[in-house]
Amino acid sequence: MHFGFIKEVAMKHERLIVGLDVGTTKVSAVVGEIISSGNGNGDAPGSIKILGVGTSASRGIRKGVVTNIESSASAIREAVLEAEKITGIQINAVHLGITGGHIHCISSHGVIAVKEKEIGQKEIENVIDSAKAVAIPFDREILHIIPEGYAVNGQEGITDPRGMGGVRLETNVQIVSGDATSIQNLIRSCKKAGLEVIEAVYQPLASADAILTEDEKDLGVAMIDVGGGTTEVSFFREGSFCHSAVLAIGGNNFTNDVAIGMRISTREAEYIKKKYGCTLLTLTKDDEEVEIGYDEGSTTRKIPRRYLVEILQPRAEELFSLIKEELIAKGLQKSLNSGVVLTGGGVLMQGMDVMAENILELPVRMGSPVNNGGDAGINGNPCYSTGVGLMIYGAEEFLPEYGYERDHMLYGTMSKIKTWMSGKFK
Ligand SMILES: Nc1ncnc2c1ncn2[C@@H]1O[C@H](COP(=O)(O)OP(=O)(O)OP(=O)(O)O)[C@@H](O)[C@H]1O
Ligand SMILES: [Mg+2]
Repeated sequence: MHFGFIKEVAMKHERLIVGLDVGTTKVSAVVGEIISSGNGNGDAPGSIKILGVGTSASRGIRKGVVTNIESSASAIREAVLEAEKITGIQINAVHLGITGGHIHCISSHGVIAVKEKEIGQKEIENVIDSAKAVAIPFDREILHIIPEGYAVNGQEGITDPRGMGGVRLETNVQIVSGDATSIQNLIRSCKKAGLEVIEAVYQPLASADAILTEDEKDLGVAMIDVGGGTTEVSFFREGSFCHSAVLAIGGNNFTNDVAIGMRISTREAEYIKKKYGCTLLTLTKDDEEVEIGYDEGSTTRKIPRRYLVEILQPRAEELFSLIKEELIAKGLQKSLNSGVVLTGGGVLMQGMDVMAENILELPVRMGSPVNNGGDAGINGNPCYSTGVGLMIYGAEEFLPEYGYERDHMLYGTMSKIKTWMSGKFK
């Protein structure tokens, strides 16, 4: 969904972009710039660089849905103020990440008869329009329409049919839509925080930009983002996004399990989980102990670490089994030649990668933002994949204005669609 106005932050400074990730646990505002010509620091022209990040503890948002506009607006403002302080740049507009159980991805088929001698942009617009003509309920908003490829006269696997001859043009598109009220409430929170939303972007599409390689997307990959409130699982193949689902389980469920299982506060459970958490009994030693009982009024005591792992392991098994079901239901297991990339703060727990490998029966690697400048707190930290990805996603849309090619075919394609649909982007 595109709002058509590129506000001061982009206009005034031209090269500045801000990605805003309003997560269940933290809000992060990532400020970045496009290097338009040699800046004397050795940065390559056309590259995208992080200038700074502001974060705040999330409030008034749960699993991607705003529960209190005032609270979410103040958390957003806090993160943005910090980013402004760090970078010295006034932030007026952002690329906003959207997620939550209300997001649906459906695939749709479009077909048209080609009347002209040659397939041109108009035919592509028409075939996408015909694929778009599925009934989307009035209370849903379309966030993205992503063509997976084209077929001309039944010949499949065509990435760009323009200039070709043929009488029948077909396409398969992924339509990503969300509940209109949920999307608008998050946009309202941003407005209350004094920010314009340049574009609302489904989070995994942005994260993919920060952590997946072109090869992985070409060969087939599943990206799993385990956040605080939700886990998004997204699939890419032949260079394109092909499916995604949002599961209502995240790192906070692990924390709650520990709090209930050990009868300690959520705050202490979060601390214990981060410090000693592990999801595989086989990775722990029999004599390992954990100290608990820091809450006011309780006394500290030592318990075998095994007890903690016995609480965390079933939750991790549940999470990856649900992901496996999704994978099988969509018939994707065989097409994931590059395996699985794990990201989001929830995967920092020891054993998550091994558990994913065992249950999904695919090779697994950890994914986090790298080599975008910025400080060490961002680089290599999977909690920032979405924020950095949103910034890169936004920046990539401006690259052609500076005469640079986009690296990413996915976003090239998406932006072209936006151009055709809205007539706003060049
Ligand atoms: N070192 C760690 N070990 C275990 N879990 C961790 C660690 N660091 C962060 N987490 C967990 O990661 C989760 C937060 O991850 P992240 O910052 O990616 O979420 P978010 O973007 O705020 O939430 P969401 O994506 O669900 O909206 C929390 O549940 C937190 O407990
Ligand atoms: Mg997140």
